[in-house]
Amino acid sequence: MIRQRKAETDEGIQNEITVEVFDKFARTMRDKGWNNVDSFIKAGICSGNVLEIGPGPGYVGLEWLKGVPEATLTGCEISPAMIRTAEKNAQDYGLTERVSYVEGNCMEMPFQDKTFDAVFSNGSLHEWENPVRVFNEIARVLKPGGLFCISDMRRDVSPMLKWLVYFSTKPKEIRPGFLTSLNAAYTAEELTELFCQSALKNAAVQKDFFGLSLSGKIQ
Ligand SMILES: C[S@@+](CC[C@H](N)C(=O)[O-])C[C@H]1O[C@@H](n2cnc3c(N)ncnc32)[C@H](O)[C@@H]1O
Repeated sequence: MIRQRKAETDEGIQNEITVEVFDKFARTMRDKGWNNVDSFIKAGICSGNVLEIGPGPGYVGLEWLKGVPEATLTGCEISPAMIRTAEKNAQDYGLTERVSYVEGNCMEMPFQDKTFDAVFSNGSLHEWENPVRVFNEIARVLKPGGLFCISDMRRDVSPMLKWLVYFSTKPKEIRPGFLTSLNAAYTAEELTELFCQSALKNAAVQKDFFGLSLSGKIQ
């Protein structure tokens, strides 16, 4: 039986120490190549003026950006401490000229209509208080024909996989947070019900062994 979803806050990861621990964790994920950049490329997101929602310490977007020399990236992030870390990481990647981070809540993004060619996000969806509002915001800030791809964990993973990932997650201080995030994650069926109520209703959901992604194109 699938556990009932338990929501997280929409405040993101704010505390400096938690941000430092998350930065270490995200770096280990980057080093293992577990970053979902392939899903964004498969969705056709490989150029243009692109928005990342909830970049956290930035590795996912920076890994994507280093492989697409013509693109620029803007991160919309609710946590100022995460933005400071992402800016430092962007310097280490040598990509500061093509990336910028803006403090903002993705439920009410600080961007004009039709600003971006594409939007992507990884591992942030389960933290959004109202995903339908965010999906409508994504549709608003995309140009006509704009692409989107939102990836996250899924709650209905097998218990064996869940505990395997739990015990292999480093640093170990992140493990309780991993469980609360997984308990807040959606199943593909729940996500389908949500995006069908939004302006992204022509999207498609795909599942893999651990996660899911929502992708498509704005008319
Ligand atoms: C679990 S982290 C994932 C970070 C990164 N995308 C990754 O895959 O490593 C989720 C990020 O989303 C941010 N976030 C959560 N709710 C948000 C919101 N409403 N608007 C903008 N960012 C948000 C958090 O502050 C956090 O940095």
